[in-house]
Amino acid sequence: MLLDLYGTDHDPKIWGNPYEFWPERFDKRKENLYDFIPQGGGDIKSGHRCAGDLLTVKVMELFLNALANKISYTIPAQNLSYSLAKIPTLPESGFIMQNVKRK
Ligand code: HEM
Repeated sequence: MLLDLYGTDHDPKIWGNPYEFWPERFDKRKENLYDFIPQGGGDIKSGHRCAGDLLTVKVMELFLNALANKISYTIPAQNLSYSLAKIPTLPESGFIMQNVKRK
């Protein structure tokens, strides 16, 4: 069995304008334990949700903060298209960053 993550994440019944990049949509959304499920759903204490969930999310927060606020870089022309037939999928070029410097 394969959970249709792409279909669920693009269902207009759940997400208004699902193809629009609109991170603010999460500001007012009430979270529940089945919203964010790359590491399983439900309660970490009573179910089988990944034991590394909190640690992994913290590492992602630190990494994204560094990427957005602590370094500068340029993005050369590259092929950022990706296949929906691969799991996991990635941009064809990977993600090439140049002139990476600490801010
Ligand atoms: C991107 C990183 C990670 C992903 C995507 C991931 C994903 C998952 C998934 C899908 C499960 C199964 C959940 C279920 O059965 O419903 C799982 C279980 C588990 N994960 Fe992770 N995991 C990650 C990182 C980690 C890390 C860093 C640790 C330890 C430090 C960890 C420890 C565990 C353990 C012990 C279980 C078994 C939990 C149980 O069966 O009660 N994982 N993980």
